[in-house]
Amino acid sequence: MFPAVFAACEEGLDDTEIYKPGGKLAKAEELSAGNSTIFTASPKAYDQPAPWLTSEYEIRFNKGDDLYDRSRGTGEGGGNGLGPVYAGYSCASCHKNAGRTKPSMYTEGGSGSYGFSSMLIYITRKGGGYFPEYGRVLHDQSIYGVEAEGKVTITFTEEEFAFPDGEKYALQTPHYAISQWYADSIPPEELRITVRQPLRHVGMGQMMALDLDELKKLAAQSNYPEYGISGRLNYIMERGKLQIGVSGNKAQHADLTVELGFSSDMGVTNDRYPEEVSQGQSQMMGFANYGVEISTEDMENVDLYLQGLGVPARRNVDNATIKRGEEMFYAAKCHLCHTPTLHTRPRGTVLLNGTQLPWLGSQVIHPYSDYLLHDMGPGLDDNYVSGLAQGCEWRTTPLWGIGLQRTVNGHTYFLHDGRARNLTEAIMWHDGEGAASRILYSRMSKDDRDAVIEFLNSL
Ligand code: HEC
Ligand code: HEC
Repeated sequence: MFPAVFAACEEGLDDTEIYKPGGKLAKAEELSAGNSTIFTASPKAYDQPAPWLTSEYEIRFNKGDDLYDRSRGTGEGGGNGLGPVYAGYSCASCHKNAGRTKPSMYTEGGSGSYGFSSMLIYITRKGGGYFPEYGRVLHDQSIYGVEAEGKVTITFTEEEFAFPDGEKYALQTPHYAISQWYADSIPPEELRITVRQPLRHVGMGQMMALDLDELKKLAAQSNYPEYGISGRLNYIMERGKLQIGVSGNKAQHADLTVELGFSSDMGVTNDRYPEEVSQGQSQMMGFANYGVEISTEDMENVDLYLQGLGVPARRNVDNATIKRGEEMFYAAKCHLCHTPTLHTRPRGTVLLNGTQLPWLGSQVIHPYSDYLLHDMGPGLDDNYVSGLAQGCEWRTTPLWGIGLQRTVNGHTYFLHDGRARNLTEAIMWHDGEGAASRILYSRMSKDDRDAVIEFLNSL
């Protein structure tokens, strides 16, 4: 017996029979991403090639993986080009095992004394607009001889609540401040700070292959006035044209931001972003410029690596508690935003430098996201605008693979800035369009709430 949304999945299975290691035919509910599904639940579960990668592509996948993991230093050549100012020293420094590095910034109270944060810190003026001496991202790390742009400190206020049945939970609100500015200090009253923890790289190829007409239809239909839900697409200006955004916490990018990741997060210049992010800063006068620090071919291999990653299969799908949790997930209307089933467009994807990946096409996928923006209420409002997305609007985070985050990354910090310390807190932060779901969840019996959590852990 399948919930209605899995009907399409069963149909899709007619011509894609997938066998698990050991020779058993996979069940429809296990197949998170059709032919990209992998049956691994180890600490490397986010970081395995999809089964369709032929040897020729696997060589490039491994090159991309290496470029992604390689810690960069200063100077010229291969693993270099870091900085002068940066936020991370490799993609994997923030996306450990292609996941979410444990935010040491939270456990250490900021990026000041401890140093590395693994987070991105965006700063703007109160009225919008950037500070010319700093730019969009506060680079809180720097190479020898240069100063970091500033350091962040975090404090928390915590409030205790109780479910109707008396069980207690607490929500912590983070407060950010910046000190040790390398140039002019910006007074707190002129500044807005928003902090993001990295996203899991589960389903990057599928996200790039999404059938955008299906998303448009969802946005047109995603109107459930009885629950106060109405999602919308983000549209952003990128590569000189207006495009639908799907990636990032505010769906603020159309692609996998490989060039931006190298440039803005690490200070590695490339053809799309040939200038150092610190260009124009007074402390950069007389600094050697090595020119372009990574080639487009190399970046395409990183793109291939991301898009060629397998998606972990669901686990324990026949477990009675998990089945109950799935029913309760629907009962709490979580599925109206965390859409269980979507489809990829027939042709698959085209990588950064023109390579085509047709294998990603025509797949039935279970991302548990509509990739749309929703008003999540004042508590999560960061006052930061990205394309059409307002401060209170966030892209529904895809939930596939979420149950393995603890295994892969050793922590259970959730939501865009990691403020939720476990899945229950993540749900209880849902407000605005997510309020109805939160209330339906909180009114459930303790057993049913626990079953929802078990269900999430099976994704
Ligand atoms: C300083 C830490 C840091 C580094 C270094 C970093 N990232 Fe990220 N990454 C993030 C954060 C934080 C987000 C979420 C950004 C947001 O929503 O605003 C993110 C988001 C992404 C996303 C979007 C994922 C999704 O589900 O929508 C992709 C793809 C990505 N990063 C790829 C890369 C690649 C490739 C590199 C290396 C070139 C890289 N990142 C380096 C922190 C980092
Ligand atoms: C109105 C749309 C909507 C509904 C309904 C909804 N969510 Fe969400 N959910 C979101 C958005 C948007 C985010 C990202 C918010 C953020 O990061 O600040 C999110 C984030 C999450 C996260 C954190 C994911 C992560 O990796 O950080 C979990 C877990 C989650 N939702 C579970 C649920 C469950 C369970 C329900 C039903 C009880 C539910 N959601 C209902 C929109 C929704």
